Amino acid sequence: MIICICQRVSDRAITQMARSGASFDDIQLELGVATQCRACEGCARELHAQCQSAATAYCRSEGMPMIMPQPSSLRLQAQA
Ligand code: FES
Repeated sequence: MIICICQRVSDRAITQMARSGASFDDIQLELGVATQCRACEGCARELHAQCQSAATAYCRSEGMPMIMPQPSSLRLQAQA
């Protein structure tokens, strides 16, 4: 389902980035969601928050570390 009509960003794309540890700012920068009319911002932020809390619950149940690499920091490492 398309969440951001202006940038044609789907819920799947937002979910995928959020589950990999991306912040909402990272998602805005990468996908452009909520950067034009911003009508989608509330829905996109809510979806991001749901994914973050789901990832936290999974990590706690699996005993995994809570710190995940951010896509922006990975880009910096790759450039160095
Ligand atoms: S619908 Fe997302 S910026 Fe317009």
